[in-house]
Amino acid sequence: MVLIPALRGMRDILPAETGKWRVVEAVAAACFSRYGYGELRTPVLERAELFQRQLGEHTEVVQKEMYTFTERLGGGEICLRPEATVSAVRALVAGGLHRRGVARVWYGGPMFRRERPQKGRYRQFWQLGAEAVGSAAPAIDAEQILLLARLWDELGIAHKLELRINNLGAAQERAAYCQTLAAYFRRHAAKLDKTARARIDDNPLRILDSKDDDTAAIAAAAPQMAEHLGKESRQHCATVKEIIAATGVKFVEDAALVRGLDYYNLTVFEWVLAGDKRRQNALCGGGRYDGLSEQIGGPPLPGCGFALGLDRLIDLADETPSPPPDCCLIAAGGSAVYCARIAEILRDAGLSVWPPNSGNLSKQLKKAAAARASLAVIVGEAEETAEEITIKRLRDGAQQRVLLTAAGTVAAAMHSEDKQ
Ligand code: HAM
Repeated sequence: MVLIPALRGMRDILPAETGKWRVVEAVAAACFSRYGYGELRTPVLERAELFQRQLGEHTEVVQKEMYTFTERLGGGEICLRPEATVSAVRALVAGGLHRRGVARVWYGGPMFRRERPQKGRYRQFWQLGAEAVGSAAPAIDAEQILLLARLWDELGIAHKLELRINNLGAAQERAAYCQTLAAYFRRHAAKLDKTARARIDDNPLRILDSKDDDTAAIAAAAPQMAEHLGKESRQHCATVKEIIAATGVKFVEDAALVRGLDYYNLTVFEWVLAGDKRRQNALCGGGRYDGLSEQIGGPPLPGCGFALGLDRLIDLADETPSPPPDCCLIAAGGSAVYCARIAEILRDAGLSVWPPNSGNLSKQLKKAAAARASLAVIVGEAEETAEEITIKRLRDGAQQRVLLTAAGTVAAAMHSEDKQ
């Protein structure tokens, strides 16, 4: 019989990998918290209407990629969430958080889009995101960019990334620009690729970030959004840029950065791999969405947020090691029962303990060193008979043989000396 495989574009993440995920998630959670963002959890299954209009009827996500089902017994259309911003705004309004000033939340979890799978692109992928709702101030957009810059620093990947920023203007400015753009692309329709031609009337902005060479050349000469921006919109993004520049964060202005979802206005930004001009695999994207709350039946509430792709982040943060164990048990003749007793005693003392590996003493010691364990706890026949264990600190080889009754205290002390 053939093993039943996972669905296309969906994958198992095994323990050798998940350790790294935990480290990255913990660093991010601490970072969010330092900027005043509290954790939010929203359902994975949602009403499809929550996303359809808000993300945009003509976006790829809504047209082709949502996993939508019809609920039995008149429950209507439901879907696996393709993103979490709309749910977050709904949750904040429903929970009344917006009445207490600016509501700042972060979230993490799986999202679902039926895209064509490739490296870094999955049908079930993980995002970490943050949203701040209730303020139109440019300081909020800047705060989130600074938070992300700090996160990349802490993960040691800042040098691999580049920040791109654009200004999509206020809703009316954006609508007027789309008309100008559509008229321009209509004049050049013959030179556009098929996908771009189909977008002229519904989504002309997306033609600007086309990956097709001929279309990209036409798009490069298209009228610019900057010419359609009013004074207030210009000022908003100028302030965002002023704040981030004042704190030393570098960015590139990118008129072709339009984002793939429709709810944005004013500031939009993406962090991409440095040198990746085509933004093939953006690591993180976000921006302002001042009309979103009203679109889903909430009060007028300006908002700004971002989401990063965890699958992509983990690939990038490849130097981030999984957390090492405090102790590795080395079975050198001791019985399974005795090893289990010792492991529990050490865990009672607050230490993490990996059970014995296969192989002889020296092989097991090598494996403990490779796992970057602090201590190796050696359990031989002689130790078992005497109700003792041998504790070896791997960094300097310091070794002690102690009675089982003292095992927890001595191991904890040796481990804490190792950490100093
Ligand atoms: P997004 O640009 O669609 O924005 O997704 C954000 C990030 O999720 C991307 O930059 C990418 O790293 C990751 N991502 C998206 N699709 C996939 C995929 N198929 N496989 C792997 N990773 C993927 C949003 O979702 C918005 N909700 C962001 C936001 C929050 N805007 C305002 N607030």
